[in-house]
Amino acid sequence: MKMWLTLLLCLLSQARLISSESCPGKSVFFPCQCEYSSSEVGLICKKVDGQIIETVFNEVSKLKNVYKNFDFFQISNASVLKLSENILGDLKFASIFIFDSNITQLDRNALKSSHKEVEELILQQISFIGWLRDGNYLFEILKQFENLRKLSITNTNLKSIPENAFLRFNATQEKLFWINLSHNKIQNVGDFAFYELTNLQTIDLSYNRIKHISKDTFAFWKNNSLEIKIDLSNNFLSTKCFEFAAFSNAKRNMFLNLAFNNITHLEESIFASILRDSSNRIVVNNNPFVCNCKNAWIIKDRKRVERSLLGLYCEDGNAIFERNVNDYHYCSLKNVDIEDNICGCSTLKMVHFLWKIVALAVK
Ligand SMILES: *[C@@H]1O[C@H](CO)[C@@H](O)[C@H](O)[C@H]1NC(C)=O
Ligand SMILES: *[C@@H]1O[C@H](CO)[C@@H](O)[C@H](O)[C@H]1NC(C)=O
Ligand SMILES: *[C@@H]1O[C@H](CO)[C@@H](O)[C@H](O)[C@H]1NC(C)=O
Ligand SMILES: *[C@@H]1O[C@H](CO)[C@@H](O)[C@H](O)[C@H]1NC(C)=O
Ligand SMILES: *[C@@H]1O[C@H](CO)[C@@H](O)[C@H](O)[C@H]1NC(C)=O
Ligand SMILES: *[C@@H]1O[C@H](CO)[C@@H](O)[C@H](O)[C@H]1NC(C)=O
Repeated sequence: MKMWLTLLLCLLSQARLISSESCPGKSVFFPCQCEYSSSEVGLICKKVDGQIIETVFNEVSKLKNVYKNFDFFQISNASVLKLSENILGDLKFASIFIFDSNITQLDRNALKSSHKEVEELILQQISFIGWLRDGNYLFEILKQFENLRKLSITNTNLKSIPENAFLRFNATQEKLFWINLSHNKIQNVGDFAFYELTNLQTIDLSYNRIKHISKDTFAFWKNNSLEIKIDLSNNFLSTKCFEFAAFSNAKRNMFLNLAFNNITHLEESIFASILRDSSNRIVVNNNPFVCNCKNAWIIKDRKRVERSLLGLYCEDGNAIFERNVNDYHYCSLKNVDIEDNICGCSTLKMVHFLWKIVALAVK
């Protein structure tokens, strides 16, 4: 008992020692600063370029009796940020936050000292230099953070997520549960991008330029009883952008947000099986839906899909579930099929017009 008490006191006093003496004198990290923030301690570099950070951190690395395991590291307003090899020296951080900066160089080993430590990595309001924008090299680096829990890359000029973006040869990023890639310029998300991230719960891809979802874009290796939230709202998705069997390899319950896209129909062959599982949700408000024969299956199958499909409003502004099967009798008439066979881009108004005529005629 006494021994435990002594041990506890000892631990407590050590903890206090760390929190009050982790930051050395101001000159040590100058022009960066060591700061306390609630119960955490970290380093902040504002308007400091990469070369200076490297020099300072490598000097500090040589010192003994200086605290080197920080909670956070913030870089901001660096107009030309070169992240060269071992810029961190042997300093370690649990969270790295870079914002309002232009990243012009990124070495594979730039953040190596913290590959094991980083749990949260945030890149926000970043302009990446040309060759970093396609994501190939960037994700090679990101996948090295084996204990990463949260990744956020937002408001940057990132253009694509490569195939197998998080594939590692001898380990998986088991802890990664939250990925925010919203407000970028992403056009492509490669197949199997998130494949091995079994514990992922959130992928925010909203406010990008995504135009294609293949059957393996959201394929996962293992199932998991936890729901996955996939936010694809505010992209450039239209009806034909969903390849056959899209989402079918997710092996998870899904909360799928497709709001604010360019979708006119939900293909039965793709969406029926997802919607019939009442644990799934698909949100589709603010799309230019046309409630003609192509969407009639939704009404015919309403008992099974109504719970899962949220926010489907027709061209007349009314919710699709306000209609009933009789409104779609005309779909079985041979001659009205023509309407659905009109293809091309400028037919929306005409289809709408035809729908009204037919509806009147049926009444
Ligand atoms: C950092 O730069 C942004 C624009 O790039 C500016 O809006 C902001 O005020 C700057 N912050 C500081 C602390 O200089
Ligand atoms: C990044 O570079 C652009 C020009 O390429 C410049 O306008 C902007 O101010 C730079 N950002 C920062 C934070 O210095
Ligand atoms: C994974 O493989 C690489 C290269 O073969 C090696 O350097 C690294 O230490 C390995 N990591 C683990 C966790 O085994
Ligand atoms: C992702 O980041 C954006 C921009 O910072 C933010 O608005 C959004 O709420 C974040 N997504 C999630 C799921 O937190
Ligand atoms: C994963 O799938 C297998 C086989 O279908 C099943 O036995 C297992 O319970 C599932 N695990 C979870 C976590 O859903
Ligand atoms: C939306 O789809 C229509 C036709 O289906 C097309 O003409 C238009 O360019 C699309 N808009 C966007 C932003 O992709």
